[in-house]
Amino acid sequence: MLGTHVFEWLELSLRWGHLTVGIAWIGASFYFNWLENRLERRNHENRELEGDLWAIHGGGFYHVQKYEVAPAKLPPELHWFKWEAYFTWFTGLALLVVTFYLNANVFLLDQSVAELSAWQGTGIGVASLAVSWLVYDLVCRSPLARNAPLLSLIIFIYFCVLSYILCNTFGGRGAFIHVGAAIGTVMVLNVMAVIIPSQKSLVSAMQSGGEPDGQLGRAALTRSRHNNYLTLPVLFIMISGHYPSTFSGEWNWLILIGLAVVGILIRHYFNVRHLPGTKWWLLVAGALITVAIAAMTLPKSAFESDTIQSASIDTVRNIIHERCTVCHSAAPVFPGFQIAPGGIVMDTDVEINDLAARIFSATVATRSMPIGNLSKMTEEERTKIASWYAAHSRENN
Ligand code: HEC
Repeated sequence: MLGTHVFEWLELSLRWGHLTVGIAWIGASFYFNWLENRLERRNHENRELEGDLWAIHGGGFYHVQKYEVAPAKLPPELHWFKWEAYFTWFTGLALLVVTFYLNANVFLLDQSVAELSAWQGTGIGVASLAVSWLVYDLVCRSPLARNAPLLSLIIFIYFCVLSYILCNTFGGRGAFIHVGAAIGTVMVLNVMAVIIPSQKSLVSAMQSGGEPDGQLGRAALTRSRHNNYLTLPVLFIMISGHYPSTFSGEWNWLILIGLAVVGILIRHYFNVRHLPGTKWWLLVAGALITVAIAAMTLPKSAFESDTIQSASIDTVRNIIHERCTVCHSAAPVFPGFQIAPGGIVMDTDVEINDLAARIFSATVATRSMPIGNLSKMTEEERTKIASWYAAHSRENN
């Protein structure tokens, strides 16, 4: 009991911390993008300036100036933005270990997708992060990088392939989180291995009176553009675990790609909003794709099983007591579960009837339960639940 409780609080602390530093990172990055886009580039008396802007916030006026290259003299104190990114990665990795790797059989693996041991799953998971960075960094350093749209396309295709492979290796939840963690790893290493070194070269060039490394500067700009477009897809992935209809179907890899495209379109809209020309279509396209995906994931109607004789509550109770209450009980017996997950308890007929819609959704519509099909529910049992639910919902309408 104590072990599980300590574990829960460890997870809570990591998740809370991850969210906090993640917001600090993305928030700063959104803010600087906004500054860049809104900068008033008028003719300044001060020739060194590229632009400036005024803002009011928290009861005070702020006047921000951006230099064309750099001020003539380095200020005594220069603020850097990097620890938010690094800590987002550390806490994220720790969370990945605590929630997915230490409980790989429940949250990471699905033996009906691929038969893997917890160690194999963990190995593949960690490798997917490392390989993603190596591939991404290699393409960015290759001659392909001279063509920016082509480079973006190749990176996009790489992550599509990764989504396909991982969705055919792990359970949907674990696959999604690994695509997200791989993108997050790329983003953090972009900061650590390219953007920060480029800024350091700029600063040290100023101190020594030399020239900053121009190539490093261009690479940093490209990487920070990539980070910008990757942000919204990652944010969706981080909350995707709440939505079985996205991660649990056969087409989950494609749904992930579709929603990533929506994120990219919306991010693009905010990047170009201040420029002349029509842009609203970006938002409309994003909304249409979202609606299309929602339609595509619409659960099959329970009433399709009309022809089958509907199963009785006795049958359903037996199925649930065999396949679900090992976890979803007032006193679970499944190793690692001291309390019913999600607060869902199905010990009595009253509880089962009250939860009918969610039981149907979890076992038939999204097939997210039994999690990883650990209790080995059969197809026949799923059909029986569907037929019971069809009758149940007719009676209650
Ligand atoms: C091995 C343990 C385990 C078994 C067996 C299991 N579940 Fe779950 N269930 C979980 C966990 C863990 C969660 C919480 C998942 C999350 O964090 O989103 C959950 C969440 C749920 C939820 C709420 C989230 C959702 O997807 O709607 C429902 C409903 C549910 N289970 C139904 C079932 C049914 C019905 C069965 C039996 C067919 C079942 N579960 C078998 C572990 C289990």
